Amino acid sequence: MKPHIRFDGASGTLVLLDQRMLPASEEYFYCRDTRDLIYAIQEMVVRGAPALGVAAAFGCVLAARETATGFSSPREGAEALDALLDALAAVRPTAVNLPRMIGRMRKIRQDRNPSTFAELVALWETESARIHREDQEVNRRIGAHGAELLVSGDVVLTHCNAGALATAGFGTALGVIYAARARGKDIRVIACETRPLLQGARLTAYELHRNGVPVTLVCDNACALLMRKGMVSKVLAGADRIAADGDTANKIGTYGIALSAQAHGIPFYIAAPLSTVDLRTPTGDDIPIEERPESEVTYFGSRRICPEGVGACNFAFDVTPAALIAGIITELGVLHPPYGLSLARAVERGGSKEARSTLP
Ligand code: MRU
Repeated sequence: MKPHIRFDGASGTLVLLDQRMLPASEEYFYCRDTRDLIYAIQEMVVRGAPALGVAAAFGCVLAARETATGFSSPREGAEALDALLDALAAVRPTAVNLPRMIGRMRKIRQDRNPSTFAELVALWETESARIHREDQEVNRRIGAHGAELLVSGDVVLTHCNAGALATAGFGTALGVIYAARARGKDIRVIACETRPLLQGARLTAYELHRNGVPVTLVCDNACALLMRKGMVSKVLAGADRIAADGDTANKIGTYGIALSAQAHGIPFYIAAPLSTVDLRTPTGDDIPIEERPESEVTYFGSRRICPEGVGACNFAFDVTPAALIAGIITELGVLHPPYGLSLARAVERGGSKEARSTLP
């Protein structure tokens, strides 16, 4: 498989593996301008918090190329560019990596003050490639720290897809599993199918299976029973945004899994880069939760699965309270409660420049 996020500087095209088509086929989606990328994010061609951040950084390059010509004054061009960046940052509201990486690109433009659009494009191409590389390195470090928590024989339940496909490569929650297995530990995975868009079935099962990790698919509503039967030893999930107090937004269903894990004495871990920590969001109640179209729930593919006239509620994420989280695995190590303190310290110590700038 080619890289799932790739920027072709010569043609100014962002090439994305179209995750809607997996696992049936590996097709690529070509973003030639910001409109293409906005569509790709809305429609889940690319998804997963860190991957959204990386794609958005490359999206800034697309936006700069688009606004380089055709305006009567540089000021008009700059205003048009800002409007495109604002639109891009707002496409999906929960994953903080999306606006954060655009903020990082804006900051570097402000600091370096390039005098032409060509200079800006070059500056942003370099920075977005750096963001892409950094995310891969950070994932490997998360994997190394998280692997210490797993022992041979563990059966890890995971929800949605927090793997290579959700990041620039390697993955957060799945990265921990890859790292543990690379260290010779016998780890098996239970993947929740993740209604309504089936990221667990289509993406997690796909990438684990390709990488030789034993994986069993289960319906989302099987989790409590499996835990009661002693079939799950740990839970590992990713994150879309971690509030300052440790409350964590992730795919809808994660909260219920965490409650169930607590009831059965099973440790529940979050694996996420510090770029997902948002110290400006005080608690989970302050995290904006994306609502997606009803049709994702009322239809299965092209087939309607409930009577005409019945509506659906489709929150894409929920928030797991910090009290249910045994540890947050980051590139700097595993953080423990009280998260208000451990997160602030970690961000101050070594988080990305962007994460640091959100310190209160
Ligand atoms: O709606 P999605 O597929 O973008 O949701 C993704 C998740 O919830 C992931 O668990 C999260 O982004 C972490 S990815 C490393």
